[in-house]
Amino acid sequence: MSEFVPPKPKPHARKLSPLRRILQVRHSSISVLYDRSYSMHLGDVWTPSRRVYFLNQPDLVHRVLVKESDKFPKSVSMGSMLEFLMGEGVFVSNGELWRKQRRMLDPAFSQARIQDVFPLMRESTLAMADRLGGRDGAIVPIDEETTHVTADIIFRTIFSESLGKDDSRRIFKAFGRFQELAYAQGVWNMAGVPNWLSPGRYFAARHARVIRGLLERGVDRRIEELASGATAARKDILASLLEARDPVDGQKFTRKELVDQISVLFLAGHETSASVLAWALYLIAMRPDIQERLNAESSAAFGGRLPEFSDMKRLRLARDVFRETLRLYPPVSFMSRDSSESTRLRDKAIKPGEMIFVSPWLIQRHTALWDRPDVFDPDRFSDPASKESQRSAYLPFSAGPRVCLGASFAMQEGMLILAYLAQQFRFEPVEGHIPKPIARLTLRSENGIRLRVVKRAATAAAAQRNDAADPGAGEGGCPFARMPEQ
Ligand code: HEM
Repeated sequence: MSEFVPPKPKPHARKLSPLRRILQVRHSSISVLYDRSYSMHLGDVWTPSRRVYFLNQPDLVHRVLVKESDKFPKSVSMGSMLEFLMGEGVFVSNGELWRKQRRMLDPAFSQARIQDVFPLMRESTLAMADRLGGRDGAIVPIDEETTHVTADIIFRTIFSESLGKDDSRRIFKAFGRFQELAYAQGVWNMAGVPNWLSPGRYFAARHARVIRGLLERGVDRRIEELASGATAARKDILASLLEARDPVDGQKFTRKELVDQISVLFLAGHETSASVLAWALYLIAMRPDIQERLNAESSAAFGGRLPEFSDMKRLRLARDVFRETLRLYPPVSFMSRDSSESTRLRDKAIKPGEMIFVSPWLIQRHTALWDRPDVFDPDRFSDPASKESQRSAYLPFSAGPRVCLGASFAMQEGMLILAYLAQQFRFEPVEGHIPKPIARLTLRSENGIRLRVVKRAATAAAAQRNDAADPGAGEGGCPFARMPEQ
């Protein structure tokens, strides 16, 4: 089978003028890149508000994200884009506030808790398979479906309740609009327009309220339940956050802080996974040979029964397909940091307040850091020759203290969904439909991702789907626990 080079915006031959850059970046941050963006170590562009750097050199990326992360806090303008949704939640906070939040959130994402949520992930995956099964042979907007399943998983994990189809669609729409407007605000901000003047801010706030309102109601229901003395012992994330006390000062989260953190977890916890899963299904649809190997792997691992936690370590190809998709289509394509003091990066003197972008999109497609960077090749992850690239130029979950809190959660969920769907269905490309990647807050396809979904001949697993599965998770070491450190 010949190599498949999946869609990527054609880089410009040379750097765009400031005006063209601002006009184009409003559409997507990857549509302004030019040829040299994919081979340079450090680039910079002038914007009316400040100078902005793009850093692709692994040792310097390590310095910014890991070794000297305190000197490079999360960018303030990023926080202001997301405040309507996330308030002062852990994704956007900095300094002592962030340290305190992270101390209180970490236990909810310990390896043991992730193993505990495996049965919930499986329930949502089966529900998705049922929805797809009802559309056998049809062309399905698969990105909406992946949003539904990942939103359902994180919703169940937070609240112990499933997310209905209507709420899921509402969220998909509201977040789509929010991300357009909030991203545009970030661009206006760089162009020197103060936030309060930025067009669309009012509408962004309105879309954010739709999502935040749904989550607030969930938090309030639980607080009322607890106040009324209901004793249902729940083991979900909300219960963990309600119990959490800062080990340093003993304080608990206030209601507002709870809603901020739940909003972060809900959004960071499904939008990213939904994006990568939709791309992964598209990629395997374009490489039927890899899809068949995935099917064989899942069939061997699950056989005629439902997936168990202990099966996860046998899903090597599912893991590599997921990793390779994260390389080619990292949902968080650009991470922004502000320089808090004067410093040097290579030959550049960086001033306080200037912005540095570390871009998984660029570094993971860098021509000097990866072999055949634009080719979809999941097997590269088992090839010792790519060890160095994986170690130094692969950061879909970031690195250092601000590494993704949900990386192991996301790997487990992604591998499970991919493996189970590949066992049950065949995904086929739709003639004439080529997804167009655009990067705003997350990386999505501008024209959606549509695939034809064909149910495979009934398997023994399907026949047993209705058997009440043992909800207890299987045992076995988690094979991907070290992913975030990469
Ligand atoms: C494939 C899926 C995911 C990807 C690619 C991803 C990627 C990332 C990246 C790159 C960051 C760092 C952003 C930055 O430094 O600017 C991040 C942070 C974060 N992610 Fe994820 N994420 C994923 C799934 C999840 C899930 C499932 C959860 C929670 C259930 C989650 C929760 C968070 C949180 C809370 C942070 C902020 C951590 C901090 O700043 O201390 N993410 N994620």
